[in-house]
Amino acid sequence: MSQELIETIDRGSIEKLVRSFYAKVLEDKELAPFFLNALGDDMNNDKWYEHLITLDNFWLGMILEEGRYMGDPLLPHVFLPNLTPELFDQWLKVFRETLEEIYTPSNVRNIHGKAKALSTRFIKDLELDENDDDW
Ligand code: HEM
Repeated sequence: MSQELIETIDRGSIEKLVRSFYAKVLEDKELAPFFLNALGDDMNNDKWYEHLITLDNFWLGMILEEGRYMGDPLLPHVFLPNLTPELFDQWLKVFRETLEEIYTPSNVRNIHGKAKALSTRFIKDLELDENDDDW
């Protein structure tokens, strides 16, 4: 992509990030089934619309400390079957690829760092890392 990389993060670029990310997710054979199952295959339907607005607000909060996200980001993941640490790595990889198409390297590092920290917490809270060396 020969577009200029974005230095100053605003709502517009976050909306672009969110939509570009989920378009890639739907192309990813491991991640897509979770979203197809929860939201369907048409990113213009009502469920996707709700999800995208929620995620715009979530990332506005995470990155710019604004936006109206008041939810619990862990909750929907509690009910997803077959999540693994490897799937979280794949999620982070696709997220990073999307970030690199939009933002300057320092923004990529900053936002990816926040995603990675939360992902690590999800894995811990969902007890997906249990079998490491407890036994
Ligand atoms: C394997 C990795 C992941 C999968 C398969 C996954 C899948 C999903 C699904 C299916 C939903 C529910 C959509 C709906 O029914 O509305 C959801 C919601 C959400 N996910 Fe993930 N997710 C993953 C990782 C992450 C990570 C690492 C983050 C954050 C860094 C994240 C942030 C969120 C947020 C903020 C919501 C919305 C929560 C709300 O409704 O308040 N997810 N995710």
